[in-house]
Amino acid sequence: MANSLLQDITLEGKTALVTGGTKGIGKAIAERLARAGATVVVTARTRPSEANSEHQFIAADLTTVEGTATVVKEVQDNFGAVDILIENVGGLRAPGGGFSVLTDEHWENELRLNLLPTIRLDRALLPGMIAKKSGVVIHISSIAGRMPLWEVNMAYAASKAALNSYSKALANEVANKGVRVLTVSPGGVATEPMIQFMESLGGASGASPHEVYKNLVDRFGGVPMERMAEPEEVASLVGFLASPAAAYLTSANYMIDGGAVSVI
Ligand SMILES: NC(=O)c1ccc[n+]([C@@H]2O[C@H](COP(=O)([O-])OP(=O)(O)OC[C@H]3O[C@@H](n4cnc5c(N)ncnc54)[C@H](OP(=O)(O)O)[C@@H]3O)[C@@H](O)[C@H]2O)c1
Repeated sequence: MANSLLQDITLEGKTALVTGGTKGIGKAIAERLARAGATVVVTARTRPSEANSEHQFIAADLTTVEGTATVVKEVQDNFGAVDILIENVGGLRAPGGGFSVLTDEHWENELRLNLLPTIRLDRALLPGMIAKKSGVVIHISSIAGRMPLWEVNMAYAASKAALNSYSKALANEVANKGVRVLTVSPGGVATEPMIQFMESLGGASGASPHEVYKNLVDRFGGVPMERMAEPEEVASLVGFLASPAAAYLTSANYMIDGGAVSVI
């Protein structure tokens, strides 16, 4: 047992499903899991280009009940139960500006993207894991769930906080059934939407996206590493958590934020 924990991470023989696995953090996670030997299935609304199509692909809009049902059916028909479920679909859609700017539609859209797909997919795929007494579920949240910034992300932050709470409860429910449930909360990650968002905030200042991020976070206590993460850095953590080397880890929420969350 002790020796096996020191070996390189291997996921040979495992099947992993990564939602939103065609771009950004999800793409890096899919590559990390595949490199460790897993068979990887990715989902997104749009099929990736030839050059980026090394994994099995399922097209579906996960903000809808029908989209989730499509993913569940294709996974169950082709793979049975998955061993590793990475729920990464999400993102900031609602505008900043505080409570008075946010409509019902903004709030509902944020929950539809950042909370409900995960709940629906877990409800459908966890029974397969429980039946074989083995599985790992990783929810990709955000430090916004612990550190909301009303000027920037009130509804997004609240949807991620709900995800964190749900994830904790689920982890504790299924821990003695052989299924580990973990949350990973990145700070700023240099993905396309994040870089575009930083560029738009930077305007004509000439500052790089990393500098804009640093200046933004400086207003709320700062990011000690003074930069965003690369998607591969998040993938590296997820690869470890999904592996047998993390066999005693469940129910925890891992910040990967360059030190940005300043509370203990
Ligand atoms: N980037 C950051 O700074 C950061 C920080 C903290 C947390 N996060 C979290 O990390 C996760 C990934 O973020 P990212 O920046 O890597 O995003 P991204 O680069 O925009 O990638 C999002 C992925 O999800 C898919 N997707 C988007 N909407 C979808 C929908 N309605 N149904 C199905 N698939 C959908 C996209 O493909 P299609 O567009 O083809 O559907 C793509 O594969 C999110 O949960 C986000 O909240 C990101």
